[in-house]
Amino acid sequence: MLYRQRQKTAIRIYKNDYVIVGYIENFQNGNSEAFESSGAEFLKAVSRKARNLEDLVDEISNSFADVDRAVIHDDAREFYDSLTDKGLLVSGETTDEIDLKDTPFSYSNIRPDEKKDHIPGEKKQGKSALALVAEKFGGKSRLWELRVEITNRCNERCVHCYIPMGERAKAPDCDIDTQLFNDVLSQCRKAGLMRLTLTGGEPMLHRNFLDFLKTAFEYDFFVEVFSNLTMLNNEIISALKSHHILNVRVSLYSIDPAIHDAITGIHGSFEKTFQGIQRLIEADIPVQIGCMVMRQNKDVFLDVKEWGKEHGIPVTIDPFIYAPFDHSGANLGSRLLLEELEKVLSDIILDDVDYLIALKYANSPVKPKLHDERVCGICTFSFSLSPTGDVYPCGGWQNCVLGNTQKEEILDIVENSPKVKSLRNVKRKDLPRCFVCEHIDFCHSCLMRNEVESPVGNMFEINEYFCAAAAIKHRLIIEKIQTNTQGAAK
Ligand SMILES: C[S@@+](CC[C@H](N)C(=O)[O-])C[C@H]1O[C@@H](n2cnc3c(N)ncnc32)[C@H](O)[C@@H]1O
Ligand code: SF4
Ligand code: SF4
Repeated sequence: MLYRQRQKTAIRIYKNDYVIVGYIENFQNGNSEAFESSGAEFLKAVSRKARNLEDLVDEISNSFADVDRAVIHDDAREFYDSLTDKGLLVSGETTDEIDLKDTPFSYSNIRPDEKKDHIPGEKKQGKSALALVAEKFGGKSRLWELRVEITNRCNERCVHCYIPMGERAKAPDCDIDTQLFNDVLSQCRKAGLMRLTLTGGEPMLHRNFLDFLKTAFEYDFFVEVFSNLTMLNNEIISALKSHHILNVRVSLYSIDPAIHDAITGIHGSFEKTFQGIQRLIEADIPVQIGCMVMRQNKDVFLDVKEWGKEHGIPVTIDPFIYAPFDHSGANLGSRLLLEELEKVLSDIILDDVDYLIALKYANSPVKPKLHDERVCGICTFSFSLSPTGDVYPCGGWQNCVLGNTQKEEILDIVENSPKVKSLRNVKRKDLPRCFVCEHIDFCHSCLMRNEVESPVGNMFEINEYFCAAAAIKHRLIIEKIQTNTQGAAK
């Protein structure tokens, strides 16, 4: 029997002098597993090239000289078969059989279950494999995902954009230096990074965008690009295609050109973005649409969702716009008023995954929270990098600088920065009002959203907009359940 990783699976082996942990994740269906000691050795032997079970057993036997080969053989087979059942590996008698079972992404062969897997937002139950990895290394931050803002320049002027206008004009600091980018990526590879997002500003404006893609793929990262696609060209399409990009996430705000253009501030932007999406579909490159809902598109955003459904493209609808990090609040005029938000939330269709999750929450009593529980995953696995080399915790919080990669290695910052330690230490008890709040499971508030909207930059100052929004969402869902129950009783 032959085994290999699936195309959408990544494996990392993390070790120090005392521990070895193997981690495997499928970025398409979200399944992941982590194994210590012998499991890690079994995992280490697997690669992207199909290998015979006997060869795998030979390699594993080198690490377990005192164990009978027949025992290793049986354990290995059981191990690899179980990972195959979870969609993490693929197996077969021949490489042709394997390749048939694990074909590259294509719109023509998305299976119904993959379509479901494609939809973001479903939360997995239980302790994640990644949390297990962290636990084995003393609960330290792990650099698993990096979002790099390779430029803060942009060819659009979106009314809701969280990047302050002033930042975009700060040449020559707008574009990340190529040497710095390459150094950080090489450090990330050593640290076992899995997922890399290239974003901006508009990332395709960086003159070395293609080289950056190439380097990222060479390091075997799962690469995502966030773009408005207005600069897409044939060269970029073939680079994305030949390296099996995980996903291109494009912003589309309406199917009506005038409304989309009014949001981006650029006449003709819709045509370019829409054509870009179609070209990526033609090239069989996985696309996802991000549609922020604001005052300008509140009556038409569902058309984007509908268009996505017709074309097998997941659409993320998000009405929760946050403020820019310069505390100017300059974009907040585009954010939905609370009464508009209520209408938008109730417009969200029944089959929406987030809505169904919310229903599950609403049907169960509010889960008791612990005083010493962390408020969110801040500074655990995911970090961001600015064009000037600043490391910061999450998209939109560029002013929360954890360290600078021109002065220190990124792993040093992630593991040892005093600011990382203090942010990881924020506990439920630090937000006493949230701790007792009945709407907490419906709340989109977070430390970043608090800080950027607080006039004094206080991350513990509760954001009243998101607070009111949580109460609305909770009430709407309860009303929906009651209507459904009454309907069913009739
Ligand atoms: C900053 S853009 C960068 C990539 C690219 N220029 C684009 O627009 O897709 C990344 C995503 O952030 C979203 N975004 C921009 N401003 C936002 C805000 N204030 N709150 C939430 N999301 C925002 C955009 O709609 C876009 O989907
Ligand atoms: S949302 Fe993207 S396209 Fe729009 S101004 Fe911001 S960076 Fe540019
Ligand atoms: S609704 Fe307000 S009080 Fe409740 S969790 Fe959210 S921010 Fe905290």
